[in-house]
Order: sequence, then C-alpha cells, then structure tokens
Amino acid sequence: TTNRTLTMIKPDAVEKGYIGAILTDIIAAGFTIKAMKFTQLTRRDAEQFYAVHKGKPFFESLLNFMTRGPIVAAILEKDNAVANFRELLGSTNPENAAEGTLRKKYATSVTENAVHGSDSDENAAIESHFHFSEREIF
Ligand code: CMP
Repeated sequence: TTNRTLTMIKPDAVEKGYIGAILTDIIAAGFTIKAMKFTQLTRRDAEQFYAVHKGKPFFESLLNFMTRGPIVAAILEKDNAVANFRELLGSTNPENAAEGTLRKKYATSVTENAVHGSDSDENAAIESHFHFSEREIF
C-alpha cells in the first residue's frame, strides 16, 4: 500500500552540491514529493530528532554534524515507502552500501552518510510532523 517516509539530505551532501543529484535519483526511483524545505537544525532540534541515540558514543558528533549547515527535509510517497527508501539509501556505513545506492554514491563515512530515511512507519509520522505542519504537506 502507498505510504510515506521522511528524508533529510544531510549537511555533508548539501556542502558537496549533491542536492540536485540526490533529488533526481529519488524521483527516478518512483518517489513522489509531498513536502519539502531547506532548513537548518538547532542543537535542540537535533537532540530531539535523535533522542533515541542519546547516550551512544557517537551522539555528540552526530549533533555537531547535523547542525553544522543547512539540510533539505522532505516527505516522500511510494508503495511500501519506508522499506523501499531504505533500500535506495543503502547501509548506514557507506563502505557496506550496495552499488547504485545513495550512500554508495554520495556518502563519506558512517556519520557523514549524506541522506536520512525513517526506519518505521511510526517514526516516519513522528519525523514528518517534526519538520512539517499540515499546511506544508500536499
Ligand atoms: P541515520 O541512520 O540516518 O540516523 C542515525 C545516525 O547516527 C546515522 O544515520 C549515522 O549518521 C549515525 N550513526 C549511526 N551509527 C553510528 C556509528 N556507529 N558511528 C557514528 N555514527 C553513527
């Protein structure tokens, strides 16, 4: 069934000029954009968004990375969106990411991994409402 996921083009990929290429790949893979914005996370935003990772050894570097520059946040729609988008993303660690995946093509490291995708339908809904109000979703 058709449903939605939340993606972010992360600061590393924005800095490298990959916004257009990544959006082209996402659209070519059959996703429809339902909402999109160019924004920057505050430290408070990032702490809230990544609350599940609080206490992990990489939490501090994750916050520094995700707040260091602007990102593109978007809601994407497709059949089985969460699983399909994670397949397009590839492994968290780009060294393990399959050929043709976004992280294989655009990521540099496990932290600077270019693109986010929600890991469940429940988190997709939570993360979508974190970034967008109802009137920003089409
Ligand atoms: P993502 O899966 O989008 O959301 C959680 C992020 O935490 C993940 O991308 C990485 O950027 C980061 N992360 C996860 N595991 C590690 C790790 N072992 N070392 C460093 N960063 C990590």
